[in-house]
Parts: sequence; C-alpha cells; structure tokens
Amino acid sequence: MKKIIIAIDGYSACGKSTTAKQVAAVLGYRYIDSGAMYRAVTLYFLDHHVALTNPKEVEKALVQVQLTFHVNSHGVTEMFLNGVNVEKKIRKMRISENVSPVSALKEVRVAMVDQQRKLGKDKGIVMDGRDIGTVVFPDAELKLFLTADMQVRAARRQQELLEKDNLVDLDTVIANITERDRIDSTRKESPLVKATDAVEIDTTHITIDEQVDEVLRQAVSKMMRKKK
Ligand code: DC
Repeated sequence: MKKIIIAIDGYSACGKSTTAKQVAAVLGYRYIDSGAMYRAVTLYFLDHHVALTNPKEVEKALVQVQLTFHVNSHGVTEMFLNGVNVEKKIRKMRISENVSPVSALKEVRVAMVDQQRKLGKDKGIVMDGRDIGTVVFPDAELKLFLTADMQVRAARRQQELLEKDNLVDLDTVIANITERDRIDSTRKESPLVKATDAVEIDTTHITIDEQVDEVLRQAVSKMMRKKK
C-alpha cells in the first residue's frame, strides 16, 4: 500500500497526540508532534528572554534553535532542543502558559512549517497540531479534526500532567486550555480552523481504542484508494 500523510488537528487536549502516536505505531509510520516543536521554541525564548514584540530578535533567536525528534528505547518519540532532551520540560505549565503567544508569531510559524514539510516529504507520517491539514499539508490524504467537551478534555489533561508528576488543579487546567484555544483560533497567522475536507471526530464519549480504530479504518480506506 502507498504511504499517505495523516493530519490530525483540533483544540488543546482533545486526544490528538495519544491517537496520532498509536495510529503511527500500528501503521509503522513516523509520528510528529508539531505542538512539541512550538513548545521547545517557547522554552528557548523564555530561557533566553527573547522579546516577542521584536521580530528581528525573534528571527535571530530562531537561527539558534535546532529541533530534532529521537525515538527512545521504549519506542516513544521525544523532543530535543539543541541536542538536549527537553521532553519533560516542555510539558510543564510554564510552557503551556506561554506557548500560544509564541506560536502566534509569523516568524516562528514560517520556520516551523518549513521543518514540518521536510519531515513529511516521504509521506508515511502522522502529524498532529492546529494547522496541519490547512497549512502544513493541505494535500494530506487523510485529515481529521478532533473535538471533545471541555470537562472531559481538562480531566484527561490533568491526568496526563499527574502521570508526569505535575499536580495541577482542574480550574487551572481549564483556564489554560480555554485561553490557548482562544489565542490559537483567533490569531492572524494560520488560526486553528477545521479544514473543509477534514473528518470531525467528537472524542467525548469514545475510548482511545475506539478513536484509534476509527482513524485506522479511514486511513486504510485512503491507502487502498491511493493504490488504484
Ligand atoms: O499540541 P500542544 O497542545 O502541545 O500545542 C501547544 C501549542 O502550540 C498550542 O497551544 C498552539 C501551538 N501549536 C500551533 O500553533 N500549531 C501547531 N501545528 C501545533 C501547536
């Protein structure tokens, strides 16, 4: 079967990454978490006190940012910033609270989209984010747009944070997700919108296994169609 590109977009904490990871593992595809790239840039900008209001400073800083993905011994893809594993750091609330303004910057988006397209040039990739089906890969064979109720999203994100030893109360999680959704969907540069040809999946009442099965079913159907 021919390799395809699977683009998974949606609001924060709708289960995109969990679904994308498992779908990629079953298909033997590469999984790219585009949000991790924006999070790593945010970490660099915070640590180096980059002024977001100064485009020249932002561009200069971006030249210093080298992002790579490495698969660890458990088969889990981790984000490296300038050769250092930052996977744990980028999941902290400090980053979640600062990532949306950073990812709204044109200079940042241009640099990230360019790298993301290179990662997808040989297809066989599952990428999740906010603009994957609309901007990064507008010709992706399969586009999905995940949604879920806020309470469910917040509870899932709180659990994920807890598993990474970050104890955050539910109201803080809800406030963060709400604010990120607002910035991500109202920014000028590639705002989060559902691609007209994306299939919407509401994950509120379905399990991860059901989500994964649904995406796999759609992926196989696209792969078969591509073969003909
Ligand atoms: O997927 P995530 O929640 O880890 O993403 C973190 C932030 O990065 C998100 O709030 C908006 C930004 N992002 C983006 O602007 N475009 C993407 N393709 C992926 C993420």
